[in-house]
Amino acid sequence: MSETLAPADTLAAALPEAAAEIDRALDALLPQPEGSEARLFEAMRYAAIGGGKRLRGFLVLEGARQFGVARASALRVAAAIEMLHAYSLVHDDLPAMDDDDLRRGKPTVHKAFDEATAILAGDALQTQAFGTLADEDTHSDSAVRVELVRCLARAAGARGMCGGQMLDMLAEDADRPLDEPAIGRLQLLKTGRLIEFSAEAGAILGKAPAAQRQALAAYGRELGAAFQIADDLLDATATAEQTGKRTGKDAQAGKATLVSLLGLERARLQAERLAEQAIRHLDSFGERADLLRALAAYTVQRKS
Ligand code: IPE
Ligand code: IPE
Ligand code: MG
Ligand code: MG
Ligand code: MG
Repeated sequence: MSETLAPADTLAAALPEAAAEIDRALDALLPQPEGSEARLFEAMRYAAIGGGKRLRGFLVLEGARQFGVARASALRVAAAIEMLHAYSLVHDDLPAMDDDDLRRGKPTVHKAFDEATAILAGDALQTQAFGTLADEDTHSDSAVRVELVRCLARAAGARGMCGGQMLDMLAEDADRPLDEPAIGRLQLLKTGRLIEFSAEAGAILGKAPAAQRQALAAYGRELGAAFQIADDLLDATATAEQTGKRTGKDAQAGKATLVSLLGLERARLQAERLAEQAIRHLDSFGERADLLRALAAYTVQRKS
C-alpha cells in the first residue's frame, strides 16, 4: 500500500473537506436570520451556505498553504471570495440577466424569495465580502488587508467580473458573433479575474515574493479560462441533475462561448490546453502544490 494518495484521490478528499470548513466559516460570519431584517439575512445564507464546489475558496486555502499562512486567516479570505461569488451568481440568475430558476440544485434566490430580496442579498453579500477582508481578524498587517481589498475590488468591478458580465449580456444581442479573442477577453473578465484573485490571495496573505505571487496569479488566469470553457461545455452536454442548474440555455440565449464558435471538440481541447498551461506556472513550487495541479485537471474533467 502506498503511503501517499495519488493527487486526484487526495483532491477528491480535500475539496469536500475544505468546502465543509468554508461553510462553517460562512455560517459564523453571516448574520443570523433574526430581527426585522431577517428576510435579507435568510436570503444571504440561502445563497452562500451549503452548496457549490467551493473552487475559489479552495484556491485561497491551497495558495495560502504554500506560504504557511494561518488557517483561520485563509478561511476568512476563502469565505469572503465565496460571498462575492455567491453575490455574482444571485445577480447572474435574475430575470434581467440569465433568468434562471435553478442554482446548486435548488430554486434561485429570486424564486425562493423575490427579486428585490435577491438584489439586496447580492448587494449585502458583496459588501460583507469586503468588510471581512478589511477586518483585523483577517490579518494583523493593515497593508495586507488593503492589498486584499484593492485586488478583489479590481477583480470584481468594472474592469473585472462586472465588465465581463456586461460583455456577456451585450453579446446576446450583437449583430455578429464575437470572434475568439473577444470571447477570450469576455471570459477572462467575467470568470478569470475572480479565479485569478482567488489563486493570488494566499500569496498576498503570506507576503510572498513577487515572482511566486505572479506565478500563482498566472496559474489562476489560465485555470479561470479553462474553467469557463468547461462550464460552457457542461451547459451544452450535461443535465440539470448533474450540474444543479438548467443546461442547454447558452445556445438558446445566444451566448458568446467557445462552444458556439468552435464546437464541442475544439472547445474541449482548448480547455485541456489551458489547464496544462496553468499547471506549468506551478513549476517553481514543489510537491506542496500538487493539489493545485490536480485541481487544474479536475477543472476540465468535472461533471458538475
Ligand atoms: C459558476 O461557478 C459560474 C461561473 C463562473 C461559471 P461555479 O461552477 O464555481 O459555481 P458553484 O460555486 O460551484 O456553484
Ligand atoms: C456567470 O457565467 C459568470 C458570473 C460572473 C456569475 P454563467 O452565466 O455561464 O454561469 P452559470 O452557468 O449561470 O453558473
Ligand atoms: Mg451569465
Ligand atoms: Mg448564468
Ligand atoms: Mg454557464
